[in-house]
Amino acid sequence: MVKTLGATLRHQAHDLFFKTVHQRYLIYNMCWEDPRIDRQLLGLDGNSTLVVLTSAGCNALDYLLDGPAEIHAVDVNPRQNALLQLKLTLIERGDFDDLEQMFRRGAHPRFRELYQAVRPRLPDYAAAFWDKKISYFDPANPKHSFYYRGTCGAVAWLVTRRLLKSGRKLRDYLFDLLDAQNLNEQRELYTRIEPALWSRFSTWLLRQPTALAMLGVPRPQIQLIQQRHSGGIVGYVNDKLRHVLTEVLIHDNYFWRAYLTGSYSERCCPNYLLPEHFSRLRADFGRIHTHNATVSDFLHTHPGEYSHFVLLDHQDWLAWHQPKALEEEWRLILENSRPGSRILLRSAGNDLGFLPEWTRRALRFFPNRTEPLHWQDRVGTYGSLHFAEVA
Ligand SMILES: C[S@@+](CC[C@H](N)C(=O)[O-])C[C@H]1O[C@@H](n2cnc3c(N)ncnc32)[C@H](O)[C@@H]1O
Repeated sequence: MVKTLGATLRHQAHDLFFKTVHQRYLIYNMCWEDPRIDRQLLGLDGNSTLVVLTSAGCNALDYLLDGPAEIHAVDVNPRQNALLQLKLTLIERGDFDDLEQMFRRGAHPRFRELYQAVRPRLPDYAAAFWDKKISYFDPANPKHSFYYRGTCGAVAWLVTRRLLKSGRKLRDYLFDLLDAQNLNEQRELYTRIEPALWSRFSTWLLRQPTALAMLGVPRPQIQLIQQRHSGGIVGYVNDKLRHVLTEVLIHDNYFWRAYLTGSYSERCCPNYLLPEHFSRLRADFGRIHTHNATVSDFLHTHPGEYSHFVLLDHQDWLAWHQPKALEEEWRLILENSRPGSRILLRSAGNDLGFLPEWTRRALRFFPNRTEPLHWQDRVGTYGSLHFAEVA
């Protein structure tokens, strides 16, 4: 009885901490989902009208390169949309070098001056956020980079400092791994790195609900992992890391590079930071619209026949605590789509056992397409990838 009460209180405290973090902070400084996979599945074209959760906005910019008619970037956390808006104003301003310094290197020597130049083009909520936080791009800050800011960045900073300080050899192996040109080299280096990765510190950190909340992993998602993976959260991350670092080529894996080094390299970066795409982004950035709302509220206020929905992994968040909200979201997605509309989502679980039963009759899934792509994902931390068409 006392034990159960203790666990309940601990769970409530975790949920409250997660809510507080998400109501007050920027969480994601980069999108943690692989848009190369998404674009193969989505098949966007000039008729596409897409709804996507914003996160850091990198993937909305990636999808823009396929020329969709409209992208609606929706996020309940306005700080995430403020981040996408800052990227959009820099694209609109037209100086690739500035965009590149801010978002490839994560710092700009004239960040304040540049901010003052783009500030009038930002919506009020975004200007209010960046008025307080633009020093995230200050190269003189000990963290040197935006990619160590926001709550995910803070955890990445803590973990990488610890790793990079735990010996010259490990440091060299890690940097050699990032530059490895084939899977054999990666596997060889990883066998040297792996034991150090699983120090007491990282195992302890992964068991801390606060650290997981800062990484944007809520308790329902932790429960989903613990239920489905015999090794719990540590075993899950261990398996996922080994796979992504030894079975997926790393030379263009900008996700892990940025967290380890604090920046992207010239060619190992999201597509929106490659110079050859800049004129396209400049021509089409006005097709992206941001909305500070839940997916359901957005669909209530902007009804339509959307052709694509990219839901990231946020339904894991709803599955446990808000089954009613999950049902409502699906009802609205189906009401605002047409036969053939495409839906993409990821989950920490191995399947979508949490979907309301009736959605299965309304959707056609394509596991034969998603299964092989899932194993090529450069993020590699998800349990499953799902792609469906409205029947
Ligand atoms: C689900 S999280 C996951 C992060 C993701 N895997 C990524 O690429 O970074 C992405 C974003 O969804 C937002 N979010 C969560 N639930 C939402 C909802 N019901 N409606 C709109 N946005 C939501 C969060 O604020 C967060 O910025």
